[in-house]
Amino acid sequence: MQIDFVPDHGPTDGGNAALAVIAFDDAELSAPAQVADAASGGAVTKALAATRFKGGKSQLLDLLSPGALDAARLLVIGAGPKGPLDEAGAEMAAAAAYQAVKASGLTRLVLRFPDLTPALAARAALGVRLAAYRFDKYLTKEKPERKASIDKVEIAVSDPAGARAAFQEAQALAEAVAFTRDLVSEPANILYPVEFARRVKELERLGLEVEILGVKEMEALGMGALLGVGQGSTRESQLAVIQWKGASDPNAQPIAFVGKGVCFDTGGISIKGADGMEDMKWDMGGAGAVSGLMHALAGRKARVNAVGILGLVENMPDGNAQRPGDIVTTMSGQTVEVINTDAEGRLVLADALWYCQDRFKPKFMIDLATLTGAIIIALGNDYAGLFSNDDPLSEKLLVASKAEGEPLWRMPLPAQYERQIESPAADMKNIGGRPGGSITAALFIQKFVNGLPWAHLDIASTTWKKGSTNPSNPDGASGFGVRLLNRLVADNYEG
Ligand code: BES
Ligand code: MN
Ligand code: ZN
Repeated sequence: MQIDFVPDHGPTDGGNAALAVIAFDDAELSAPAQVADAASGGAVTKALAATRFKGGKSQLLDLLSPGALDAARLLVIGAGPKGPLDEAGAEMAAAAAYQAVKASGLTRLVLRFPDLTPALAARAALGVRLAAYRFDKYLTKEKPERKASIDKVEIAVSDPAGARAAFQEAQALAEAVAFTRDLVSEPANILYPVEFARRVKELERLGLEVEILGVKEMEALGMGALLGVGQGSTRESQLAVIQWKGASDPNAQPIAFVGKGVCFDTGGISIKGADGMEDMKWDMGGAGAVSGLMHALAGRKARVNAVGILGLVENMPDGNAQRPGDIVTTMSGQTVEVINTDAEGRLVLADALWYCQDRFKPKFMIDLATLTGAIIIALGNDYAGLFSNDDPLSEKLLVASKAEGEPLWRMPLPAQYERQIESPAADMKNIGGRPGGSITAALFIQKFVNGLPWAHLDIASTTWKKGSTNPSNPDGASGFGVRLLNRLVADNYEG
């Protein structure tokens, strides 16, 4: 699909086009909507009398062959309270317009939103790109009417050249989010640790440096926790180390991101129930997001040094699998009693985080992990949990989260709950019982952070969407975390 920026005057030239405009609360029409209303001979005003459409956010009025208007279809998108459109509003309106007509049979969509600056226009274009994402590579017999018909979106702006320039970065971001969504969507028979590592290795074409460590190398490093998780699988565990050196000094201290990459989580010997187990193909969402972030940084040539570490394993039960009660020694030297083999993500992160700080001595580390079902119980399906030992880093994450529309909620890390993960036989155990399950998981991970700023994002709640109400984030893999962290870097760590 092609996205173009066109001058905001002149005809729609749209016998076969859908035209989308905006209305605010109380059905107040934006200037372009008024123009369309007049050109249609008052079709919008008439339609308003026949509907409950009031211009509220996520409301939509869809007019077929609107009178004398030079368009096949007119969409009036509700934008809520009257005022200048902000970036999130532009993204939502553009994505909603695309969703409304994507498979209508029409091939062209024209967006005429009020006062689109280059930045707002780029954000609208990003919304369309993200809305148009589909994972359809395995559909060999899909009904043609379900396929997208829109192949061109034109965004009317006063400064097309400026918008085109602003879209360069948004385009790099959209490609990165799609890369993450593809990884997360792939089934586990296709995307196992070695294949994941191979796809990440291909990112060297963007200028990233990628090293892949196998079981031998990790044994030499003493990564007993990560390796214990993978030992019941016939698929070899991998550790991917991705570096982006975009700062003027390639040796300047990097920032670091670490991802849980459990390519499939059966639970191991503490095996999960059959219902919904297929969801555990996306238990590598943290590693997927870190991969997408590195893709984004390289794609837009961010002026920063960044490291991405992925712990890639498959958690399977077989004759060689680890058993409940096993005691493993982590790379840090600390020992862990594995009470439940289904609490595997924290074991993977323990060694990946330790390796990261030991080798790179970063300014901070942020890990992303589909870590606990408990975070879904606590926060529902729109917010990811933020746990951190550092208030300034948390604040920056929350600001970036708001700006990109990837919601975070900060959770506590109370030291007194560490009692729940004490073990009589080892330095700690890997589960802390049901109370505060996401918190004790975070406290466990914190034991592998050696006195530097750190944040942990539990994204089990947001990695996969079902029944999404966000038009730029349709059902399926969300890519959650890529935009958030890209913004964190862009606004705080470049220059
Ligand atoms: N990958 C799961 C967490 C998860 C659950 C992600 C649902 C996405 C949706 C994780 O490895 C896990 O199994 N956690 C257990 C921990 C428990 C055994 C302490 C959980 O949440 O039940
Ligand atoms: Mn598990
Ligand atoms: Zn898991």
